[in-house]
Amino acid sequence: MCGIFGYVGQRPAAPIILDGLRALEYRGYDSAGVYVAGSGVVKATGPVDIVASLVPKTWTGTSGIGHTRWATHGPPTERNAHPHSDMSDSLWIVHNGIIENYQALKEGLLMQGVQFSSDTDTEVLAKLIGSLYRGDVREAVLAALSLVEGAYGIAVMSEHDPYRLVVARQGSPLVIGLGTGENFVASDAAPLLIHTKDVVYLTDGEVAVIDRQSYSITNRAGKAHTRLPERIEWSVETLQKNGYAHFMEKEIFEAPSVVENTIRGRLLLERGRAKLGGIEAHLPHLASLERLLIVGCGSAYYAGQVGRIMLEEYGGLPVEVELGSEFRYKRIFAHDKTAVLAITQSGETADTLTSVRRAKEAGLLTLGIVNVVGSTIARETDAGIYNHAGPEVAVASTKAFISQLTALALLTLAVARERGLSLQDGQAIAQGLQELPAALQTVLDRAAEIKAIAATYATYRDAMFIGRKLHAPIAYEGALKLKEVTYLHAEAYAGGELKHGSIALLDPSFPVVALAPRDAVYEKMISNIEEVRARQAPVFAIGTAGDHDLSRVANDVFLVPSVHPLLQPIVTVLPLQLFAYYVGVARGLNVDRPRNLAKSVTVE
Ligand code: AGP
Repeated sequence: MCGIFGYVGQRPAAPIILDGLRALEYRGYDSAGVYVAGSGVVKATGPVDIVASLVPKTWTGTSGIGHTRWATHGPPTERNAHPHSDMSDSLWIVHNGIIENYQALKEGLLMQGVQFSSDTDTEVLAKLIGSLYRGDVREAVLAALSLVEGAYGIAVMSEHDPYRLVVARQGSPLVIGLGTGENFVASDAAPLLIHTKDVVYLTDGEVAVIDRQSYSITNRAGKAHTRLPERIEWSVETLQKNGYAHFMEKEIFEAPSVVENTIRGRLLLERGRAKLGGIEAHLPHLASLERLLIVGCGSAYYAGQVGRIMLEEYGGLPVEVELGSEFRYKRIFAHDKTAVLAITQSGETADTLTSVRRAKEAGLLTLGIVNVVGSTIARETDAGIYNHAGPEVAVASTKAFISQLTALALLTLAVARERGLSLQDGQAIAQGLQELPAALQTVLDRAAEIKAIAATYATYRDAMFIGRKLHAPIAYEGALKLKEVTYLHAEAYAGGELKHGSIALLDPSFPVVALAPRDAVYEKMISNIEEVRARQAPVFAIGTAGDHDLSRVANDVFLVPSVHPLLQPIVTVLPLQLFAYYVGVARGLNVDRPRNLAKSVTVE
């Protein structure tokens, strides 16, 4: 996600800010920029070093702000890079987060004759602050924030007041670093450590003014309060992982906030609908489709398999799911009632990209569910849904997979309501999505139980995952996670398949992970577990809260909250991600960078 760094002091600001941005590169970004008071501004796509190469050596300003941008609104281009300015180019801002009502604010400013040069919500905020500036930056920021809805972490500077930084936090972290005759601000403490260990973490709703000697904090109503500094003892690497041992662990624990970001501004609870701006124009066509082809690779493919059942069962839409590496060879029947949906975290997977290009050549409408804004597949599909899951650093996909399932649930809701799903059923799904982050947090709060169970399975060489209907693809995803990060042999089957051959594998050395939520096929899964136990294979069962029968048949049981049936796979996969992570750690492996794997498979 984006990174902010600000400096006010006695030393030349540019090199300090650029080093601060380099220390934030781990967060993932696609463009960067820096503004130094009294010197100028430089922005560019690509790494921070490109910006650094463009900053004149003659810059002497001793205060400024910088930013690494993970694109959310508008593709990664120089004009969309931060900092952004007001109408007079005298007030500059960098921003993390999403201004939800930026369109309405932009329309108001356009009516005042304000002109815009970028596609970003941040520039709207910059122009809004500029329109309210009457000589005091803090007052203008407070006035602007009273009109803003959404999440932000911002740092604002004015040419007219070059030794004051005004910063504000609402949903996107900001940390003040305290030096001697100089002070800093950043998105997290990692880039501050080389300067100071004394920091002040802002909390939501707070606005701070920082100069070379001091800082002061108020709430958005301007009411002052004091916050004493803390001393941080963590290493930079630990800070980048936000205190978690690995990026994979951090990203698994981001699941609730990832779902919040994926659904943010997209639920119409009263109307029982989902508002997906990226595909709005195509909704009537999607409503009349006779077939949807979903294409993806790896975890994205398994997400597509879940999406198939969602769309078929709730939207009455026939769906086929294909591996990107196979779809590319497929004979494609051009039919205007067929569309293609590509699912991809990186937006660069070669097999998926080739499949999209083949579908377009055949004249089919192509949609995408993509995490990386402005990526190749995001640009080449006709329309799509951005995950807003933030960058996924660990090679094994965890939070992106959760976000893909959430986006598929949103798509199902949007399409199904056009294809006859009732208002009441739509409202139930929308409410279920609204409550999903809390259900995920319930699982994470009990992660230690999964860790204890994982320790007992870490010594096995094999594992089998089984599930049915919506949970069959989750079984495959659970097996993939385990293979990826533990190098153990794992395979998955739809539960009903065991008796057709694979049960021959089972014996006391071959544990089975069984997904058995209380749903229409629960009794069938209980039978599966019993047939597995009859071969003395150990069973770790994932069930739903209130189930007292699973412990009768399984060796280990973990119960997750029961949510709307459409959303249950999103909750059920979380303990499987934790299970794979803890087994990988127990086996002493590099779970963030497993052997032989790349984060984005851009080769065919
Ligand atoms: C998931 O854990 C894997 N790292 C891998 O299967 C991944 O899902 C696949 O390569 C697809 O990547 P994409 O989503 O970026 O297209």
